[in-house]
Amino acid sequence: MTEHADAAELRARMVDRLSADDLAGWAAQVAPWLPALATMPRHAFIPDTVWVKNPRHWPTLLPLHRDDDPARWLALAYGDDAVITQVDDGHPEGPGLAGAMQTSSASAPDIVAVMLAALDVHPGHRVLEIGTGTGYHAALLAQRLGTEHVTSIEVDPDVAVQARTALSKTGYGAICVITGDGALGYPPHAPYDRIVSTAAVHRIPYPWVPQTRPGGRILLPWATSYTGALVALTVDEQGTAHGGIVGESSFMWLRAQRERRGAVGDVVGEDEDRAELHLTQLHPHSVVGDPGARFAIGQRVPRCQWRYWPYDQQIGAGVLWLLDFQSRSWAKLTHATPDASDEEFPVHQSGPRRLWDEVHAAHRWWIEHGKPDPARWRFTVTPRTQHIALAPNTQG
Ligand SMILES: C[S@@+](CC[C@H](N)C(=O)[O-])C[C@H]1O[C@@H](n2cnc3c(N)ncnc32)[C@H](O)[C@@H]1O
Repeated sequence: MTEHADAAELRARMVDRLSADDLAGWAAQVAPWLPALATMPRHAFIPDTVWVKNPRHWPTLLPLHRDDDPARWLALAYGDDAVITQVDDGHPEGPGLAGAMQTSSASAPDIVAVMLAALDVHPGHRVLEIGTGTGYHAALLAQRLGTEHVTSIEVDPDVAVQARTALSKTGYGAICVITGDGALGYPPHAPYDRIVSTAAVHRIPYPWVPQTRPGGRILLPWATSYTGALVALTVDEQGTAHGGIVGESSFMWLRAQRERRGAVGDVVGEDEDRAELHLTQLHPHSVVGDPGARFAIGQRVPRCQWRYWPYDQQIGAGVLWLLDFQSRSWAKLTHATPDASDEEFPVHQSGPRRLWDEVHAAHRWWIEHGKPDPARWRFTVTPRTQHIALAPNTQG
């Protein structure tokens, strides 16, 4: 088969999988996007070199060149995961030029579909996208809205050039791709009916608000070190944006808001044996398994990342690490049974912060407030502040 035929078949299967998926409740709103997803040649937006997990040294990444393994490259282009298209801002620095930090990608197809659905675009809408990446998402928007209605900003000049080339080759070269800082929006084409960020933020850039027309929508992945959420805001006449969480999300950060991610070993050193030890009755899975708990903890415990390895029969344990790369604090919890039948779990903690104590207190707060799910949190963005608070519980 030719690459063209292989791509068509893989794309059809990708769309079949999307059609069969409930997509976190968005399936009905995704349906109108399926024809665009079925015809857009996603592989035409994927650069010849992509980055894949390094099996010998997690979490670094190794380059995979299209010519070295065309079938694998094509399968990745139409796979279920994000395709990493740039590491270390284009300058891989690890040993043997392995990449450490993912800095650009084609987002996973299900996330692309959900974001298109949640953006709620209508004919005639003008859209600004922050984070052009490969250009794939911008092309899908343009297929429904027209190229003249889509503006996209990419901070990385090489990524922007690559996106413009792919857009031209696929017939979407008229989309305006700006090289610049998307946090500033793009005033010359404002006002927009929709602004969508495909890079995560913790502090929502205010310029997006006045550049959206009143009644218009801003869709963004909002994140803490602990968790991510998809947030939709509506802009009012007073230049304030209000909204809430409409889904989960996991995105790479807007460049200026990036935080360091790394391996457990980057924080946990020789002090592991000397760490404080005590016991807790809260199962480690309780603080990472529930989206509501994760969101509340992320809100209340800054700069805390986690890595969880569920119970593994061969090892005979499940392990949760809590990590603060800045203060070099960590906590480790283990459980020795696959279910919650242990009554107490050992906690090791080290560094200036007691991360388990902080996470445990935030979890208690979440329980005391009736275990709010993420949709209970309300976001307000004004020129001076970003306010995130729990809405009153109206369900009795
Ligand atoms: C997940 S990728 C975007 C995926 C893309 N929409 C697609 O369809 O391929 C995030 C992109 O945001 C870009 N980015 C990060 N910070 C940015 C900023 N301040 N302004 C504009 N783009 C930014 C990154 O360089 C990266 O290419």
